Amino acid sequence: MKYAGIAGTGSYLPEKVLWNKDLEAMVETTDEWIRERTGIVKRHIAADGETTCDLAEKAARLAIEAAGIAASDIDLIIVATTTPDRVFPSTACLLQHRLENHGATAFDLQAVCTGFVYALGVADKFIRSGSHQTALVIGAETLSRILDWRDRGTCVLFGDGAGAVILRRQDEPGIQATHLHADGSYHELLTVNAGVSQGYAALQAGEAYIQMKGNEVFRVAVNTLGQIVDETLSANDLNKEDIDWLVPHQANIRIIKATARKLRMPLERVVMTVEDHANTSAASVPLALDTAVRDGRIKRGDLLLLEAFGGGFTWGSALVRY
Ligand code: COA
Repeated sequence: MKYAGIAGTGSYLPEKVLWNKDLEAMVETTDEWIRERTGIVKRHIAADGETTCDLAEKAARLAIEAAGIAASDIDLIIVATTTPDRVFPSTACLLQHRLENHGATAFDLQAVCTGFVYALGVADKFIRSGSHQTALVIGAETLSRILDWRDRGTCVLFGDGAGAVILRRQDEPGIQATHLHADGSYHELLTVNAGVSQGYAALQAGEAYIQMKGNEVFRVAVNTLGQIVDETLSANDLNKEDIDWLVPHQANIRIIKATARKLRMPLERVVMTVEDHANTSAASVPLALDTAVRDGRIKRGDLLLLEAFGGGFTWGSALVRY
């Protein structure tokens, strides 16, 4: 039996920082409200002309370096993104070109904020099947491009960034399990209701923005993430105390704390980057993972529970022996 394991991680945040205080000048909000209701203090915003692929490339190069491989060793590239550079080719193909990799399987995956966890699950299955050996799995977003900067209910919540991992085939289980779900009946609660096939009317009217019923999303997110924790533990015969680190999607500190309570996990064992990054959608879990790997909190052999929830709704978890 062959398994997939994380050989290296990387991440990148754009240089420009937007503080809560800066937002006070843009919409009717306060630093205090944003901190109290979300835990967010600042977020990074891509520069004009800086694209999702630019962020993904920087994260990818760091992950490749950390794994000690060459870009030509990669035979699978998956970019989880809701904000691709182009309708096509995929951001994965654009990135592949920049990395001077030729011939790998390359595609984008769209599961909004759960995108990276989905991509990890898909790459794990490719590697376990024996068809592929070395995968570059990325979550990368320029969410700032689909925010309505006049809507205080959404524009304070999101940021831009990218996170990447290299997965390699190994004899011991690294990715132990992934649990991936969706329920499209919730599609109206969190959406950008514009797209190619609907025609360009919304895009031309300047209305291709995130629309969200925040408190309804909040309620479903807390319940659903509680359920995915139970499902992951029971399907893998684990107790709560077996998990060394919770690496959650970074949408709102109150949602993260509710999941940690469910796991009876002290907050010292929860990786939290929401304060500095805000919600970077598909990039949020790999950004948090890379942060805690590089600052030495997550160590080889630790058992990690990654989880995410997002538009669709989509949700999922990955159990990873790092
Ligand atoms: N600044 C100040 N006031 C704001 C505000 C802001 N940025 N955004 C909303 N408000 C106001 C609302 O207008 C409302 O005012 P009202 O009582 O006069 O009508 C009040 O704050 C409470 O709004 P509500 O939406 O009930 O607040 P909340 O406690 O649910 O917090 C969110 C709002 C968006 C922070 C919260 O619902 C949330 O995090 N939801 C989940 C979002 C999410 O994670 N989405 C992505 C999932 S991947």
